[in-house]
Amino acid sequence: MAGNGNGAKRSKGWFGGRDMHGFLHRSWMKNQGFAAENFEGRPVIGIANSASEVTPCNAHLGRVAEAVKRGVWKAGGFPLEFPTMSLGEPVMRPTTMLFRNLMAMDVEESVRANPFDGVVLLCGCDKTTPAQIMGAASVDIPAMVVTGGPMLNGKFQGRDIGSGTDVWRFTADLRAGRMSLEDYMEAESCMSRSAGHCMTMGTASTMASMAEALGLQLPGGAAIPAVDSRRYALAEFAGTRIVEMVGEDLKMSKILNRDAFENAIKVNAAIGGSTNAIIHLLAIAGRMGVQLRLEDFDDLIRDIPFLVNLQPSGEYLMEDFYYAGGLPVVMKELGDMIHQNAMTVSGLTVAENVEKATNYNEDVIKPRETPINVGAGTAVLRGNLCPDGAVIKQSAADEKLMQHKGRAVVFEDIDDLGARLDDPDLDIDETCVMVLKNAGPRGYPGMPEVGNLPLPKKLLEKGIEDVVRISDGRMSGTCFGTVVLHVAPESAVGGPLALVQNGDMIELDVKNRRLHLDISDEEMEKRRKAWKPREPMAKRGYARMYIDHVLQADEGVDLDFLKGSSGSDIPRQSH
Ligand code: FES
Repeated sequence: MAGNGNGAKRSKGWFGGRDMHGFLHRSWMKNQGFAAENFEGRPVIGIANSASEVTPCNAHLGRVAEAVKRGVWKAGGFPLEFPTMSLGEPVMRPTTMLFRNLMAMDVEESVRANPFDGVVLLCGCDKTTPAQIMGAASVDIPAMVVTGGPMLNGKFQGRDIGSGTDVWRFTADLRAGRMSLEDYMEAESCMSRSAGHCMTMGTASTMASMAEALGLQLPGGAAIPAVDSRRYALAEFAGTRIVEMVGEDLKMSKILNRDAFENAIKVNAAIGGSTNAIIHLLAIAGRMGVQLRLEDFDDLIRDIPFLVNLQPSGEYLMEDFYYAGGLPVVMKELGDMIHQNAMTVSGLTVAENVEKATNYNEDVIKPRETPINVGAGTAVLRGNLCPDGAVIKQSAADEKLMQHKGRAVVFEDIDDLGARLDDPDLDIDETCVMVLKNAGPRGYPGMPEVGNLPLPKKLLEKGIEDVVRISDGRMSGTCFGTVVLHVAPESAVGGPLALVQNGDMIELDVKNRRLHLDISDEEMEKRRKAWKPREPMAKRGYARMYIDHVLQADEGVDLDFLKGSSGSDIPRQSH
C-alpha cells in the first residue's frame, strides 16, 4: 500500500511548499475542515463526478463517490471530489455526442489543473464514460473508471422490458396500431424503475464493459446493478486501489496500449456491444497515440464468438448478466483469443483477474464452444458510397437483407425525414433503401443517434419490420435493424452520400464488405461538381468550433487539436 509521500509527487507541487504558494493552496482548502496532516504528502485522489439531475443515469453517483472516498481514506489517501460536465442522453439536444469532446476537455483540464496524484472517473450514461477516459488519457496520471451501474430490469405487464430497445418496439407498435396509448404511457414508468443507466447492452453498458475490457475498471464493475450493495463495496475497493496505483505509478499509458484496445474490440464482439464503441475507442486510442484502424474492428473479430444473450441482439438484460457472472466470465471464455497478460487497474493481468470467474447461467452467457454465432459483430464496409468506411452491426441486422440491392429513397436531412416519412404518397416499398443525409458530425452537427430511421407508417401497417437504412449518423446501442451507419466522409463535407438521388440503385453486400452506389464514375463526378455545401448549422460558440474541427467517423469524431496528450505538468503558478 502507498503510505505517506508514496507517489504523492504531483500534489506536493501544490501542498508541499513552505512559501506563499503553499500557504495559498492549503489555507483555502482548510476552510472545508480538512486537518493539516492531509496536506503532508498523502496521495491526493480526484473523484471526477458526472452526477447531475439532468443526467438521470448518473444522478446517484454522489453515493458512489462516498464509497470511493471511504476506500481512499482507508488507504491513507486524501480524496477530493469535483464535478464534471454531464451528458444526459435522454434529455440533451441536439445530441450528447456534440458535447462528448467538450466534456473530455473539461475533464482533461480539471484533472491537469488540480493537485491530483490519481483520479477516479465516475460515469455511466453513454458519452460520460468515453468523455472521462479521453480527458484523463490526455493527462496520463493513474486513473480508474467506476461506472454507476445499470438499472434493474424493466418490468411491464408480467415481462422484462429493456431500456431503449423496447421504446423503439413500443413506438413502432403504437404507430402500427398494435399498442394502445394507455399501455404505451404505462410502460414509461415500468421501464426505468431504479437508479442507473440503460440495462440493455446499449452504449452505456457497452462502454462500461469497454472500460473493464481495457483494464480501466475493476473486474466485474461493468455489470453490478446501480442499486446493488456490491457496487458500493466495489467502489470502496476502487478508492483503496487508486491510492495503491499512485504508489505503483500505474499511469493510464501503462494500461492503454495496443493489446488493451485489441482486447476491448474483441470483447465488444463477444458481448454484441454497441457500434458507438467503435467511435469512442478510436477517439481514446487517438488520445493515447495508439494506432487503431477502422478495419481492426472487423479484422480482429472474425473468429470471435458472440456469447452474451442480451437485448438488443438477444433476450436478457444487464441484471441477468451480472447474476450470470458478468464480463469476467466472457473474458475467461475468450481465453487465448485475447491478450491474457494485459495489465489492469487491479494490479493484476487479465488472466489473473478472471481466473476464478464462474458462469452461473449458460443461457445468458454462452460457453465459447456453443456461441450464438461467430464473427457476427461489426462489419466495416467500403465502396464508392463510403470511401472512408461505414459500419453495420450484423448481430442486430436481418440476415435476409445483408445482401440486398434496392432503390434509394432519399431524405435530405432529419427535417425532410420528419416531414415526409408518413406521407401516404411516399414512393417506397420494403425492397427500397432509405438514405438519410446530413446526420454526420458536421452536418447535424454532432452525429446523433438517428441512423435507425423509423419505418414509414405504410410499411409498418403492412407488417414490415426492417428495411435497409443508410446514413452518416449513429444509432443508439439499444437499436436493431439492417442499418448502415457512420458513412464517411459524411454528406455535409461532400462525401458520396451527398450525391445519392431518389431512384439510384444501392447495393449492400455485407459478406463482401461492400456498399456500392450503382452509378458510373462519370455521373458521380458530374454530381460532385454540381454539389454545394450547406451553411454550417452554427455560427458561433462551441458548436461552431466543433464544426470547424471535428474529425470524421473513421477517426473517432474527436476534435483535431485534441488528439494526443499534453501530459500532467503545469510549469506555472497561479499567483
Ligand atoms: Fe443514459 Fe441510456 S440514457 S444510459
